[in-house]
Amino acid sequence: MFLLLHFIVLINVKDFALSEGSMITPPCQKGYFPCGNLTKCLPQAFHCDGKDDCGNGADEENCGDTSGWATIFGTVHGNANKVALTQECFLKHYPQCCDCKETELECVNGGLKSVPVISNNVTLLSLKKNKIHSLPDKVFIKYTKLKKIFLQYNCIKHISRKAFFGLYNLQILYLNHNCITMLRAGIFKDLHQLTWLILDDNPITRISQRLFMGLNSLFFLSMVNNYLEALPKQMCAQMPQLNWVDLEGNRIKYLTNSTFLSCDSLTVLDLSSNMIMELSPHLFKDLKLLQKLNLSSNPLMYLHKNQFESLKQLQSLDLERIEIPNINTRMFQPMKNLSHIYFKNFRYCSYAPHVRICMPLTDGISSFEDLLANDILRIFVWVIAFIICFGNLFVIGMRSFIKAENTTHAMSIKILCCADCLMGVYLFFVGFFDIKYRGQYQKYALLWMESMQCRLMGFLAMLSTEVSVLLLTYLTLEKFLAIVFPFSNIRPGKRQTSVILICIWMAGFLIAVIPFWNEDYFGNFYGKNGVCFPLYYDQTEDIGSKGYSLGIFLGVNLLAFLIIVFSYITMFCSIQKTALQTTEVRNHIGRDMAVANRFLFIVFSDAICWIPVFVIKILSLFRVEMPDTMTSWIVIFFLPVNSALNPILYTLTTSFFKDKLKELLHRHRSKSIFKIKKKVYLHPLCG
Ligand SMILES: *[C@@H]1O[C@H](CO)[C@@H](O)[C@H](O)[C@H]1NC(C)=O
Ligand SMILES: *[C@@H]1O[C@H](CO)[C@@H](O)[C@H](O)[C@H]1NC(C)=O
Ligand SMILES: *[C@@H]1O[C@H](CO)[C@@H](O)[C@H](O)[C@H]1NC(C)=O
Ligand SMILES: *[C@@H]1O[C@H](CO)[C@@H](O)[C@H](O)[C@H]1NC(C)=O
Ligand SMILES: *[C@@H]1O[C@H](CO)[C@@H](O)[C@H](O)[C@H]1NC(C)=O
Repeated sequence: MFLLLHFIVLINVKDFALSEGSMITPPCQKGYFPCGNLTKCLPQAFHCDGKDDCGNGADEENCGDTSGWATIFGTVHGNANKVALTQECFLKHYPQCCDCKETELECVNGGLKSVPVISNNVTLLSLKKNKIHSLPDKVFIKYTKLKKIFLQYNCIKHISRKAFFGLYNLQILYLNHNCITMLRAGIFKDLHQLTWLILDDNPITRISQRLFMGLNSLFFLSMVNNYLEALPKQMCAQMPQLNWVDLEGNRIKYLTNSTFLSCDSLTVLDLSSNMIMELSPHLFKDLKLLQKLNLSSNPLMYLHKNQFESLKQLQSLDLERIEIPNINTRMFQPMKNLSHIYFKNFRYCSYAPHVRICMPLTDGISSFEDLLANDILRIFVWVIAFIICFGNLFVIGMRSFIKAENTTHAMSIKILCCADCLMGVYLFFVGFFDIKYRGQYQKYALLWMESMQCRLMGFLAMLSTEVSVLLLTYLTLEKFLAIVFPFSNIRPGKRQTSVILICIWMAGFLIAVIPFWNEDYFGNFYGKNGVCFPLYYDQTEDIGSKGYSLGIFLGVNLLAFLIIVFSYITMFCSIQKTALQTTEVRNHIGRDMAVANRFLFIVFSDAICWIPVFVIKILSLFRVEMPDTMTSWIVIFFLPVNSALNPILYTLTTSFFKDKLKELLHRHRSKSIFKIKKKVYLHPLCG
C-alpha cells in the first residue's frame, strides 16, 4: 500500500516537472548559454576560451572535464583513513631490501623472486618491479591485515586460484604490467572489502562473470590494454558497487544487450579504442547514474536514435572518431545534464546545441580564429570578387552603350554577366564575414553556419553557378547550330530568346531554392562549411543533401560541360573544313584561327572551373577522405574562373567589340563628323 502511494506521488511529481519544463521557456535561445546568475546569454563556443566574456567569469568556470572524478575520489579518499606515518617500523620480519614504515612495507626493485616472509600485521605491501613470476596457493593467507597490495611490473604469469585467499581486509590490489593471460573463476572470492582492482597492461583474453565473485565492494575496475574480446553476459552481476569501469584499448567486438544490466551504480564507463561495431539500442538502459561515457575510437557504424535515452545524468560523452550518419538533435536531447561532448566532426556540434562545451572547436576550412584559414585565400577573395564584379559590370555597361547588330545575342551576354556578377557578390560576402569574424571565428562558427545569411549566400552562389552553366550551354548550342548548320533557319528570335532566358533563370532559381523546401530531408544544405557552398560532403551526410549535391554537380553540370566541350570540338572541325574548302575566303582564315583560339579558351576556362569539382565529387563517391580546406580553395579560386573570364571571352576579345571600341576611340580622338562606314564581317560567333 505504502509502495503504491509512493509510486503515485512519484508520478505526480514527474508530471508536474514535465509540465513545468514545457511551460517555462528556456532563458537563452538554442546554442546559447546563460552567464551564471546573469540574464546575459553567450554562444556555446564562448565557453572556456580563456577570456571572461560574461563579465562575472561564469563562462570560464568548470572548464575541465572532471565528470565522474569528483564523486569517485570523494568516495575513495573519504574511506581511506589517512594518518601521517612516523619513521618507526612496527614489523619484525622483512627482507633487507625493503623499506618499512609502521606497518607498511615497500620492496621496490629488490630482485625478489617470490613473495617474502614478513610479520603478520603488515597493512601495505608493495612488491613493484621485482621478479615474481607466479603467486602460489594462499601466499598471502597470514597477512589478513593487508589493505593494499602492489604487484605491478613483475611479469606474473601464473596466479593460483587460491592466491588471494584470506585477504578479507584488502582494499586495493594492483596487478598491472604483468604477464597474466588468465584469471580463474573464484580467485577474488575472499576480497569482500576490495574497492580498487587494477589489471591494466596484461594479456588477459577472457573474463567470466564468476571471476568477480565476492567483489561486493568493488568500486573501480581497470583493465586498460588487455586482450579482451568479449565481456561477461552481465558484467556487474557480482559487483553491485561498481562505479568505474575502464576497458580502454581492448579488442572488444560485441556487447550483448545484457552486458551492463544491473550496473545501477556505474558512473564512468570507458570503452574507447576497442573494436565495437555495433551497440544494441538498449545497451545503456540501466546506467541511470552514468556521468561519463567514452566510446571514442571504435569502428562504430551506426548509433541508434534512442541509444543514449536513459543516460539522464550523463555529463561527458566522447564520440571522437565516430561517424554518425543518422545524427540528429533528438539523439542528444534526453541527456539534459550533458556538459561536454566530443565529436569526430565540428559540424556535429550543431546537433547538440544544449551542450556547454563541444569539441572539436573548428572545421578544417576555417582555422581556429578565421573563417578563411589562409592569408592567400583571405586576400584573393577580395581580388577575385573585384575582378568579377568590375569585369561583368563593365561589359554590361559597354554592351548597353554600344549598339550591337545582334541584339538578342547581346541580351544573352548581358544576362550571363548578371549571373556572373552574383558570384562576385557572393565572394564579397565571404570576404566581409571573414573580416567580421576575424580572430574569433570558432566562437561563431556554428551559429554562422546555421544562420540565414550563410544560407542566403549559399543560395546566391548556387544560383550564380547554375544560371551561368545553363546560359553557357545555351550560348554554345546556339553557336553550334549557327556554325554546323549555317543554312538552316533555326536561330531563335528575340521573343524566343527572352523566353529561354527566363526559363534558364527559373531553372537556376529552382535548383538553388529546392534545398530550402524540406529541412528534414536536406538538413542545412548550404551551411555545411564556413563558405556556405555545398560542394564537399563527408561520408556521414544525410542522403538528401548528398544526393542532391551529387545530382547537381555530377549530373546537370557535368552534362553541360560535356555538351560544351563536344560542341566546340565539332564547331572547330567544321570551321577548319570550310576554311580549307573555300579558298576565296582565305582572308577569313586568320579570323577563324582567332575564333578557334577563343573556343580553346572557352573550353579551357570551363575545364579549370569544373574539373576540380567533378574530381572531388567522384572521389567522394569512392569514399576518399579529403581535407576540408579543399572546398575553400575551389570555391575561391576555381569556381569563379568562369565568372571572371566570361566577360573577356564573350565580349572584350571579340573582334566585333574590338572594332567597335577602336571606332569609338578613333571617333573620339579625331572628333570627326563623318562616320567611317566600315563593313564589318559579322561572324555568327562574334557577337
Ligand atoms: C550572482 O552571484 C554572485 C555570487 O556568486 C553574487 O555576488 C551576485 O550578486 C549575483 N548576482 C545576481 C544578479 O544575482
Ligand atoms: C606487529 O606485530 C609484532 C609482533 O609480530 C608486534 O610486536 C607489533 O607491536 C605489532 N605492531 C602492531 C602495530 O600491531
Ligand atoms: C536482448 O536482445 C534480444 C535479441 O537479440 C532480445 O530478444 C531481448 O529481449 C533483449 N533483451 C533486453 C533486455 O533488451
Ligand atoms: C576517451 O578515451 C581516449 C583514449 O582512448 C582519451 O584520449 C580521451 O581523452 C577520453 N575522453 C575523455 C572525455 O576522457
Ligand atoms: C544534473 O546534475 C545536477 C548536479 O550536478 C543534479 O542535481 C541534477 O539532478 C542533474 N539533473 C538531472 C536531470 O539528472
